Amino acid sequence: MVLPNILAVLALVCVLSKNGVEASHKIYPRFQTLNVENVKQLHRTGYHFQPPKHWINDPNGKPIQQEHDRFHGLQFFQINPDFDCFMCVNWFVRAAPMYYKGLYHLFYQYNPKGAVWGNIVWAHSVSKDLINWESLEPAIYPSKWFDNYGCWSGSATVLPNGGPVIFYTGIVDEHNSQIQNYAVPANLSDPYLRKWVKPDDNPIVNPDTSVNGSAFRDPTTAWWAEGHWKILVGSRRKHRGVAYLYKSRDFKKWVKAKHPLHSVQGTGMWECPDFFPVSLSGEKGLDPSVMGQNVKHVLKVSLDMTRYEYYTLGTYDKKKDRYFPDEGLVDGWAGLRLDYGNFYASKTFYDPSTNRRILWGWANESDAVQQDKDKGWAGIQLIPRKVWLDPSGKQLLQWPVAELEKLRGHNIQLSHQKLNQGDHVEVKVTTAAQADVDVTFSFPSLDKAEPFDPKWAKLDALDVCAQKGSKAPGGLGPFGLLTLASEKLEEFTPVFFRVFKAADKHKVLLCSDARSSSLGEGLYKPSFAGFVDVDLTDKKLSLRSLIDHSVVESFGAGGRIAITSRVYPTTAVFEKARLFVFNNGSETITVESLNAWSMNKPVMNVPVKS
Ligand SMILES: *[C@@H]1O[C@H](CO)[C@@H](O)[C@H](O)[C@H]1NC(C)=O
Ligand SMILES: *[C@@H]1O[C@H](CO)[C@@H](O)[C@H](O)[C@H]1NC(C)=O
Ligand SMILES: *[C@@H]1O[C@H](CO)[C@@H](O)[C@H](O)[C@H]1NC(C)=O
Ligand SMILES: *[C@@H]1O[C@H](CO)[C@@H](O)[C@H](O)[C@H]1NC(C)=O
Repeated sequence: MVLPNILAVLALVCVLSKNGVEASHKIYPRFQTLNVENVKQLHRTGYHFQPPKHWINDPNGKPIQQEHDRFHGLQFFQINPDFDCFMCVNWFVRAAPMYYKGLYHLFYQYNPKGAVWGNIVWAHSVSKDLINWESLEPAIYPSKWFDNYGCWSGSATVLPNGGPVIFYTGIVDEHNSQIQNYAVPANLSDPYLRKWVKPDDNPIVNPDTSVNGSAFRDPTTAWWAEGHWKILVGSRRKHRGVAYLYKSRDFKKWVKAKHPLHSVQGTGMWECPDFFPVSLSGEKGLDPSVMGQNVKHVLKVSLDMTRYEYYTLGTYDKKKDRYFPDEGLVDGWAGLRLDYGNFYASKTFYDPSTNRRILWGWANESDAVQQDKDKGWAGIQLIPRKVWLDPSGKQLLQWPVAELEKLRGHNIQLSHQKLNQGDHVEVKVTTAAQADVDVTFSFPSLDKAEPFDPKWAKLDALDVCAQKGSKAPGGLGPFGLLTLASEKLEEFTPVFFRVFKAADKHKVLLCSDARSSSLGEGLYKPSFAGFVDVDLTDKKLSLRSLIDHSVVESFGAGGRIAITSRVYPTTAVFEKARLFVFNNGSETITVESLNAWSMNKPVMNVPVKS
């Protein structure tokens, strides 16, 4: 049953928790108290969301809530570019959006200076179009017994005929003991929802004795089914990843269900679970409470042990409150991914104003911590993506939100351009370091596809990409884009296809290989890759890449696969960066059509005028 006027809800923040809490999170105590004097512009993104270059402790500013502030002297900052940077290192930027009364709200986790590990606040920005962002003061920060040691990730739900409610994980002691809290806007008539109140009847959920209270976080958006509101909380039981389910009739009193919604042995802690319906036909998104015949469900989790995410498609039994992944899908580390690159702590939300489901992911840095300290910033939000079910029902499709196209400026086109083995042709877009490029390649036949070595079946796609790369000559491929390239190709980040012939079918590999991306040292340079399930009968493959100084976010085969890389060129920077198409395979490739646009900068981090 669907409540008729659920406004939907939006998701929010998977913010991140922690760092440091789990063994796999590295902690760098010497950098936690940090006074950044200079924010380096090199490698900062032009149109991907980042917190302001200057975060300051306004010495005269008033804390936004009149509650006792455990940061004592640390008042909540306002953004003022004329002041020195005070809190620039936000390792943990991850975000979550919600749509309410004409505005998208982005809440993101932020690690302020000087506090011990875990003093995470919810920073807050608003937008009318998901692209231009104005900033507000933080929405939620530690101030009560139930979140004194940190306000970690969570989600928002917009109640029918009501306002939004945020659920978030509160940290109550030095051992990172976790409970789930709620917060509500102080003034529902304020479209900016500037001020949030954390009522005294918190928490809404305490872990019972069967739950590991230091691995219990990231509540989801609520959905309505069988007379109850329901949410998930991510957890683990020894090595088993678990999504606990809690139910409520009134949104206040929450009770743990007999069984978790789902759990998988051997996957480790599940962070940032996300559970939502997708329509079996068409691209429209659905409110989280929509059930029924024409709907499938998606369960996505972020794996703390591997630091990547996977999802399954399946069936939600709303009476038993169980989720069953479809047969044939891998329910574990080797499962389908929303992005095969640097992408974590993602969240979706339903946007009722456009009937879309929108996915946001966070990308951390691939440089060393010392370099983050030197540049004064870390972490970006990727471009929001529309997501919907592929007509095959076997995977999701994704595409950058259409609003991004407003930023497109100067345009360069190519068509019917032949690329023989060894060719690379420059695409002379005016700002190749800040560009959007969309290209369709074609080829006369599949005959020259290289054989697929059966040994590779056991390898991760990343290892296959590492073996072959863009340099080993091939048959059908490697062909694609050379992004963030220096003029003479000392540096470049290739995004390319290689097509293989396996026993039963062709296998298409998309790589985004950081190994040649920089002459600099100390960088993490993975050859990110995934196999994409695509029909090759029309002998075409398409690729779109969003290039933005230190990030290359790519969508292959019309959004059937996405891969994000973070890279740090030394010479291919600003106006010296170049963009090429290339082919290193023996089969001739044709650039059927290519459009590349210089991208303008959106409004970002400009304070909302009061
Ligand atoms: C609530 O917000 C509205 C709209 O911004 C404003 O006019 C009103 O003064 C606010 N009320 C309070 C109590 O702040
Ligand atoms: C509980 O969670 C913490 C943090 O992830 C972990 O260190 C600990 O081993 C877990 N305990 C059990 C019994 O799984
Ligand atoms: C962040 O970056 C490091 C490399 O610097 C990487 O090993 C780690 O897995 C990344 N991802 C996340 C989600 O932390
Ligand atoms: C293409 O292959 C040649 C020969 O292996 C290599 O030198 C060149 O770097 C390759 N091009 C790219 C873009 O990898």
